Amino acid sequence: MAIDLQQLLSRANSRVLDLERLRQLGVVCREGDFFPAVHYPPITMYAPMTDDELFAGYTMPADGRLDVYAHIPFCRQRCTFCHYPLKLGANQAEEKDRYLAALATELDIYMSMLGIDRIPARSILVGGGTPTYLTLEQQRRFFDLMAARIDMSTCRQYTFDVDPNTLLETEGRERLRMMKDYGVDRLTIGVQSLDDQTLRLMNRHHSAAQAIAAIEATHQAGMTVDIEFIFGFPGQTIEGWARMVEQACQLGVEEIQLYRLKIDAYGDYQGPVKQLIEKHPEQLPTIPQVIIMKQVAIDILAAYGYTENLRRVFSKEYRHHSRYAHNQCCRLLDQIGVGLTAFSSLRDRFALNTQYFDEYYRLIASGHLPINRGIIRSPEEQMRWAIVLPLKNRSARKSDFRRATGMALEQQFRAKITKLQAAGLVVEDDERLALTELGAFFADEVAQQFQHPNYMAYPPHHYDQGPLHPMQDCHP
Ligand SMILES: C[S@@+](CC[C@H](N)C(=O)[O-])C[C@H]1O[C@@H](n2cnc3c(N)ncnc32)[C@H](O)[C@@H]1O
Ligand code: SF4
Repeated sequence: MAIDLQQLLSRANSRVLDLERLRQLGVVCREGDFFPAVHYPPITMYAPMTDDELFAGYTMPADGRLDVYAHIPFCRQRCTFCHYPLKLGANQAEEKDRYLAALATELDIYMSMLGIDRIPARSILVGGGTPTYLTLEQQRRFFDLMAARIDMSTCRQYTFDVDPNTLLETEGRERLRMMKDYGVDRLTIGVQSLDDQTLRLMNRHHSAAQAIAAIEATHQAGMTVDIEFIFGFPGQTIEGWARMVEQACQLGVEEIQLYRLKIDAYGDYQGPVKQLIEKHPEQLPTIPQVIIMKQVAIDILAAYGYTENLRRVFSKEYRHHSRYAHNQCCRLLDQIGVGLTAFSSLRDRFALNTQYFDEYYRLIASGHLPINRGIIRSPEEQMRWAIVLPLKNRSARKSDFRRATGMALEQQFRAKITKLQAAGLVVEDDERLALTELGAFFADEVAQQFQHPNYMAYPPHHYDQGPLHPMQDCHP
């Protein structure tokens, strides 16, 4: 290993001291755990909503464009860490045909409700599930149904989230060619680990060598490659993780994403990882070890020229970042999502699709969007949303805040921002409010400081009574 691990460990140990200090300030909960700030308010809080309610009073954005997400909820088998609603197994051919037809109708309903005959895309992301776990014929049908409804002339990026297995051998090469022909230019590949034993424990159905072959095949097909890893998984050690991150840096990929293992579900479905940990609690890395893994990885990535462009996404060049994520989370631009569990975020409103297949098909067959929950944010919720998402992911631009809320960020949350500055967690200038290096390391916890007390990840008594207890200065 070219990296001096001992030297990295001493720096990483200082992050454990930071964790302790932030606990005493009330920023990090006593248990030291985290809750990802992905939406604001958290989606589990939303009330039932219909498509008529979603579109009441809504007008298209000034530039007429939308980012588009499509979700394909099928996988071969469930990964141990996965909390997503899915249909599993190889015998789903008819179900997938039915699903693709429903997806096309859902796009048609969107166009009719928006009063447009094509969807002018800013970017497209196709995720899952495994959106490539389709036959080649079904894959082509998917591309055709999208191309018939989406205006690609303004689309700046077309990304697929894929699993390595579906890119291998003759069929995989054919699939890659097809993707390229239809304009896909970037793949996010779920590598998860480069250690075969960990991959087996994760119930992945590919080896490290197959993941590397998939990366090479994608590069040969002329597409940008982003790869994803999970840290803090049972059985991982700091040394093994550091070796693996260095190996990942040597694969020549454009982007590397690191996810800290989330044991508890974010939504209604609890993945098997919790049971695994209940059976073998001794295998779970401790919180200080996970903090060290994260810092060591950041330093190894930096030594190889990868810097954090979007939260937990490291790349050598900014242009490789996900435009979809940037537009939605950092710029707060409008976006529609189709498919099971997909969501649409339209200025001050947000709608979440059902996670149940039957309800999905039934609503679409009756001419409605398959929405079952949503929110139209109040002015205060809109303001919190316009800080939480961009601050966590990159930085809250004052001009975007004003566009999204009609208010000036300079006049909101002053007491809170002053205390966060004093703790070395945020910096502010004329253009933006941004996280410092320390703030970025604890991004979810800092973003949570701007949540309403009702939406805190943990109850108030789980935090020390420091000046940054989430109930202090929590109102704008
Ligand atoms: C939206 S998921 C879908 C990924 C894709 N189906 C795959 O596994 O290849 C994107 C990434 O989130 C990460 N992820 C999924 N479940 C997680 C969990 N419980 N904790 C941490 N990261 C997780 C994984 O790295 C995964 O690749
Ligand atoms: S993590 Fe990805 S591949 Fe694994 S079961 Fe979940 S959606 Fe499927």
